[in-house]
Parts: sequence; C-alpha cells; structure tokens
Amino acid sequence: MKFTRGIAALAAAGLVLTLSACGSSQKTADQAAAPGTASAAGALVGVTMPTKSSERWIHDGDNIKSALEKLGYKVDLQYAENDIPTQVNQIENQITKGAKLLVIASIDGTAITTQLQEAADKKIPVIAYDRLIRNSPNVDYYATFDNFKVGVEQANSLVKGLGTGPGPFNIELFAGSPDDNNATFFFNGAMSVLKPLMDSGKLVVKSGQTDFARAAILRWDPATAQRRMEDLLTKTYTGGAKVAGVLSPYDGLSIGILSALKSNGYGTAGQPYAIVTGQDAEVASVKSIIAGEQYSTVFKDTRILADTTVKMADAVLKGGKPEVNNTTDYDNGKKVVPSFLLQPVTVDKANYQKELVDSGYYTAGQLK
Ligand code: GAL
Repeated sequence: MKFTRGIAALAAAGLVLTLSACGSSQKTADQAAAPGTASAAGALVGVTMPTKSSERWIHDGDNIKSALEKLGYKVDLQYAENDIPTQVNQIENQITKGAKLLVIASIDGTAITTQLQEAADKKIPVIAYDRLIRNSPNVDYYATFDNFKVGVEQANSLVKGLGTGPGPFNIELFAGSPDDNNATFFFNGAMSVLKPLMDSGKLVVKSGQTDFARAAILRWDPATAQRRMEDLLTKTYTGGAKVAGVLSPYDGLSIGILSALKSNGYGTAGQPYAIVTGQDAEVASVKSIIAGEQYSTVFKDTRILADTTVKMADAVLKGGKPEVNNTTDYDNGKKVVPSFLLQPVTVDKANYQKELVDSGYYTAGQLK
C-alpha cells in the first residue's frame, strides 16, 4: 500500500516535471505559431464518450486520456451513460471550462449541432471519434475504422461459418442504433455481401425483415436485441424451422441474441447455436467464442484508434494539419469530413490468440 502510494507520489512529481518541461519547450513552438492558433502547451482537451456500459468505450477513454497526458495536455474525460442531454451538458461544460479541442464519440450523431456551433464560435476544433457527427459544418476531423469494411467482414464471417453446403440457410439480420452513423455503414457493408446470396436463394431471411429500420436496435441495447430475437424465434421459427445464422453488428447485441437462442433450445449437442457474428472483441464475447457459442467478432484495436486521434489532436492544437487517408466517404450532411480510417480484423476461435493475446490487447488470464 505504502509502496504504491510512494510510487504514485514519485509519478506525480515526475508528471509535474514533465509538464513544466513540455511547457517551456512548447512556448517556442507557440510563439512561432500563426496568430489565432490555439496555444497547445498544457491545453485542456475535452473528451466525451457515450457510455461505460460497454467496456470498449472505457478502453477508448483511458487510452486517449493517458496518451494526451503524456504529451502534456490536461484532459476532461466524461461518459454520458447513453443519455443525450447528459452528453450535451458535458460538451457545454467543457467549452465553458476553456477546452481548446474536443474529441467526441457521440450518442446521437445529430443532436449536438448547437454545441458544435458554440465551439466553432470560440475557435475550438472538434474531432469526431469512432462515430461521425452529423448535420454540422463544425466537425474538423474524423478518426475511425473502415466502417463499411466492418460490415463486409461480419457478413463474410457469417457466410464462412454457415459452411460450404448448398443451403438454403435461414438467417436473420440485426443492425445498430439508427442515430449512430456507423450503424448504416455496417449494415450496408454486410448487405453488399449478403444481398446477392439472398437474391440467389442461398440465404433466406425467413422473417422477411431485411430492411435497416426493422433490423435496427436503438442505442445498441442488448436487452432489446434479445427481445427481438425471441420474437423472431417464436413468430417465424415454428414447426421445426431453425435459424442457421444471425448477422449481429456488435458483441453486446450478440450476447442478447445468444441468450434468446439458448432459451429456445439452441446450444445443445442436438441443436447447436446459430452462427452469430459481432464487433469489438469484448471480453465476454471472446470467452463465448472460445467456448464455441458466438462465432466471431470484428476486432478494432482501440489502442490504435486512440493513438491516431491523439496524433490528430496534437497536430491541430499546434496549428498544423493532421494526416488523413480518406476525404470522400464521410459526408455528414453538411460537409465531407476529412477522416483517418483504420483496418478492422475478424477474430474467431482460430486467430483470437494471435490477434488479441499475442498483440497484448488482453492477457491470456483475462480470457479464462
Ligand atoms: C459503434 C461502434 C462499435 C460499437 C457500437 C456500440 O458506433 O463503432 O464498435 O462499439 O458503437 O457501442
């Protein structure tokens, strides 16, 4: 205990030293910066994340905060438990507190236009994190994964899991929250693979619910997904019909879907689970994959996303231009937001060790 406190005190002293060192070396850069550029040294950065109910956002927030602090910035990190007014207040507070840049993973991508106008009026740049902020010209950059590709990966994995037989295979489709821009990208990516197979008759969405609106799950809520799956099973899968695969865009939903399958007799020797996809490589789902329940997930390394975002933030705060690799795909309704897209990786039982454990994302112990 004492030892830990001693270390903490030393670390704090070290941080002060580092901060003051950064402060003085930064001054020269600031003085040289163009007039009107935000003063970078020790600046406050406001970071807002949607919720702590999904562990990925906790990793994202922690990674961004520590990387910014290493560069000498101060960080105000907030979570809104998926409540839009809470997130709106948090952003307003950060503006009031004098934040020099905002990093926002929005809950509803259309709900913060007023706050972003306030930010723009005060020359506070905004980086959209993971989710695009829509309907506002005041979004400077966007750091994310290739969201269309995430959907393609999910669908490819679903098809692979269904196997090489001729079919037809019964499948059902789930999509994410309709207010999250990513959800349509994931769905469209998946449908680019699944639609031709549905048209040829190899895949059959037995419920007939093939459009995004019917498949969408508000706020990515696992319990809503579970209820929808239960409904599908009791209304559509009668008289011995079975569902062979479920497109799920997010691990939280997959857990709900698997519970519904289980309570309807799936997951036994005679009736194995349907092939269920996912996203985020959350611990519970990776364990489920290892146990042979969930089939796959799409891993998006939040360490790299946080790193990319922090590099962007640092460049912008210093009056420079961050690196982007996509200036065409992310039109938010007011402008095409310059973006940096990272590559997702499908993870299943065959490669989780390499992708998640050997890469140091999780320890082997965490997955036991
Ligand atoms: C999306 C995100 C996914 C998943 C989902 C639910 O915006 O891109 O990785 O986390 O939200 O939280």
